[in-house]
Amino acid sequence: MEFDIKAIRKDFPALNQNVYNKPLVYLDNAATTQKPQCVIDAITNYYSKQNSNIHRGTHYLSQQSTYAYEETRKNVALFLNADNEKEIIFTKGCTDSINLVASSFGKKFIKKGDEIIISALEHHSNIVPWQILRDDKNAVLKVIPITNNGEIDIYKLNDLITPATKIIAINHVSNSLGTINDIKKIIKIAHSYNIPVLIDGAQAIPHIPVNVKELDCDFYCFSGHKIYAPMGVGVLYAKEKWLEEMPPYQGGGEMIKNVTFDKTIYNELPFKFEAGTPNAGGVIALNEALKYVLNIGYDNIAKQENILLKTATEKLLQHDDIKIIGTPSLKTSIISFVINKMHHYDVGVILDHYGIAVRTGHHCTQPVMDYYNLPGTVRISFAFYNTLEEIDILMFAIDKVKQMLS
Ligand code: ALA
Repeated sequence: MEFDIKAIRKDFPALNQNVYNKPLVYLDNAATTQKPQCVIDAITNYYSKQNSNIHRGTHYLSQQSTYAYEETRKNVALFLNADNEKEIIFTKGCTDSINLVASSFGKKFIKKGDEIIISALEHHSNIVPWQILRDDKNAVLKVIPITNNGEIDIYKLNDLITPATKIIAINHVSNSLGTINDIKKIIKIAHSYNIPVLIDGAQAIPHIPVNVKELDCDFYCFSGHKIYAPMGVGVLYAKEKWLEEMPPYQGGGEMIKNVTFDKTIYNELPFKFEAGTPNAGGVIALNEALKYVLNIGYDNIAKQENILLKTATEKLLQHDDIKIIGTPSLKTSIISFVINKMHHYDVGVILDHYGIAVRTGHHCTQPVMDYYNLPGTVRISFAFYNTLEEIDILMFAIDKVKQMLS
């Protein structure tokens, strides 16, 4: 497909609005992406025409919804190159997917003294679930350190692995610095010791095509809302052999085959892990979002986002008083920066008044901020629908910020 940025921007109604009488410049895509009209239409269509409970009704609407929901599962399996759709579990989001694994894998496979390895580059959602498990089981949580440029120090991984290591959980892309981690290498090292690996793919999925078979990861998690789908929908990919062995995460309707007061026989995969009424409308809209992304093409996405990343990085570095935090050799279109002596929050508030949406603070990665001895940063994060003109507006506004705060 030809990359026509003007046409693409028209697909996203939220981009075409003013805030404080200024055109919105939306640079907070790592927090959540805006939604194309096809995704909004899918939600509207679901609730105006299809709304019904899936897998439970013999009636027409229920059959239609069930079909669309299960079609999405098949398409997600294809999208990730999973072996089959039994390996795709729908969740509330990436955080929910990680909690599912920490809780369920943990219940079955972690005992006192066992070790779990994460990295110092993780989002809180890939730290806290493992801490809860550690405290529950009297296990040990080990942390792979990062290097000064914001990469996971892979060479330290071998030193941390022991016979007690039971799982490694790391992110594909850092949400606060944009680092693309060499997860293939980490998975290879882990598997040479027979240790399974969970990948938090929340920040990778909108930018990088993911092939779980090629990566050979055991678990891969992502959120719909980071890839132009609605909030409240997520995916857990897991190798079937793990899902077969792991106990259910939650009990309720749909995850059962038979219930008596004595005993419950659980449903087959993937339903064993989908208790209760799911967010069917959201899942069906996720299908539209994935189709939209594939139609634009990851090559086009990378091309546009790399131009934006390179241009914004160069322009920011023209300022002596601006420091970019995290300079890994491979990164997605995320830039975290600080302006000398200026508080990130003040910078964010002034940028907001120029219509520019950024995220400020610790970005749910307090250990990363601690490593750099910072209370927080200003983070800009681009999607393919952002433009070079928006970078010019950002630079103009940064000049104003500096005038006002110095
Ligand atoms: N995890 C999201 C972010 O990085 C919310 O902003």
